[in-house]
Amino acid sequence: MKLLVFAGSARSESFNRRLARVAADAARAAGAQATLLELADYDIPMYHAELEARGTPPDVIRLKEAMDAHPAWIIATPEYNGSYTGLLKNTLDWTSSPVAGHPVFADASRPFAGKVVGMLSASNGALGGLRAQSHLAPLLLNLGCWLAPRAYALPRAASAFDAQGQLLDAEQQAQVADVVRQVLWAAGRLHGEQA
Ligand code: FNR
Repeated sequence: MKLLVFAGSARSESFNRRLARVAADAARAAGAQATLLELADYDIPMYHAELEARGTPPDVIRLKEAMDAHPAWIIATPEYNGSYTGLLKNTLDWTSSPVAGHPVFADASRPFAGKVVGMLSASNGALGGLRAQSHLAPLLLNLGCWLAPRAYALPRAASAFDAQGQLLDAEQQAQVADVVRQVLWAAGRLHGEQA
């Protein structure tokens, strides 16, 4: 199973990127092929329709291709003001907008419909960014994704990782692995184990 993992943060010391790495490691341990994608590697301006009408930026197409090539995704989102980040919203807005005349992405259902998605979040607060997940979930469902029923929010993230980026707490590690396991299980049934 091919799993795409990315965080909704471009911060170099991002807790959510660290959590994404933990999830990717758990996926590999479960036999999946996990790809860690870095949103900061994509040069994507703030969306507006007139900009799009002048041509979808090449990096948006590149990102859509990466998303499309993976039947399962894990998204680790920070929480900003009780919701997910502008970076993640802008990314999802661009990548969900159909590309007129494109051989694949003129289809408004690509790359979202049918993807199996697991949500993670990390914050130094007590709720671990849980409210960001509650906003992200309806957006993903609206785009036709299948959401893993159990997500995980990592609280007190500043003290949760060791120097190698591993989670110090075995129970937290197990929770992340459980989200990954659900996503791989569901994607295997929806897309076939070889996807
Ligand atoms: C935050 N932060 C934050 N944290 C939280 O738990 N609940 C919140 O509502 C907010 N709101 C918020 C707004 C803004 C504008 C910023 C910049 C920050 C803190 C935030 O979760 C923290 O900076 C995380 O470390 C961001 O995630 P990464 O970059 O570490 O992955």
